[in-house]
Amino acid sequence: MSKVGNPSLMTQMIARDVLELRRAVAEWRQKGHTVALVPTMGAIHAGHLSLISKAKSLCDRVIASAFVNPTQFDENEDLNAYPANEEEDVRALVSVGTNLVFCPNRKDIYPEGFSTVISISGLTSGLCGPLRPGHFDGVVTVVTKLFLQSLPDIAVFGEKDYQQLLVIRQLAKDLNIPVDIVGAPTVREEDGLAMSSRNRYLSEKERVIAPELYRILKMAAERVIVRPNDCELSCRNARAELLENGFEAVDYINICHAETLEPLTAYKPPARIFGAVRLGKARLIDNILIS
Ligand code: PAJ
Repeated sequence: MSKVGNPSLMTQMIARDVLELRRAVAEWRQKGHTVALVPTMGAIHAGHLSLISKAKSLCDRVIASAFVNPTQFDENEDLNAYPANEEEDVRALVSVGTNLVFCPNRKDIYPEGFSTVISISGLTSGLCGPLRPGHFDGVVTVVTKLFLQSLPDIAVFGEKDYQQLLVIRQLAKDLNIPVDIVGAPTVREEDGLAMSSRNRYLSEKERVIAPELYRILKMAAERVIVRPNDCELSCRNARAELLENGFEAVDYINICHAETLEPLTAYKPPARIFGAVRLGKARLIDNILIS
């Protein structure tokens, strides 16, 4: 029987609290193994699994965490609606070689009296930062905890959430956390839609509209390669096209420096184009390298 098909073996693959997590990591360290961490909020899809494969190629042992972090949700975003199926998630994670799934409960991460917030300025001042007050504080605080709880050699994050990836890199650098932050490319559906746990919120009709975000971002990127001074015009056109194609609102379309996230008026590599749109119950984000 495969590991994933056996229920008792499956529970052995889960650490429920920090003590269990640290015990497993200590055993691996004793054997000289290197350790990677892949933080997730569960609702596992092929995008998450690609991060595990990347981690697996770089380290001997891989921990995936699955914790729906309440502090990074906006007030008007329904935390309780976030899709959750622990058994399915653990099966999927273990099937691609995850050695341990860390599924802490809320009290383990935020015990009574928890009072620390880690906040990063600069990189969070644009894009999703001002539109989701407190979001990055929540992300950075929980990721710091996950780093300190597991003390990995590397941690893998997706370029799908590119701003988050840069913010976490800044965190590790600023606080001298000895972990290498590795980025992994965005995994897409066949029609180009970036995979996301939130795609499950889309109705059939909305699902047909959703891939237009990627198509329109690509078109805008191609335009500024030909006309480097037209960043603003290209973004304005892209915004109009998104609305014409059925998106209900455009939170932003911006061309930014790929390392500082400073908005650019003239395209100069390295740059990326970023978009965030509303469609039904979902808020979709995507970004691509302009090259
Ligand atoms: P979550 O949205 O579950 O994403 C977990 C990781 O998977 C992130 O690094 C994200 O960028 C990556 N990811 C999501 N969709 C992807 C795709 N289509 N292709 C490649 N990678 C993808 O991001 C979070 O959770 C949370 O903020 C977290 C970091 C876990 C902190 O709570």
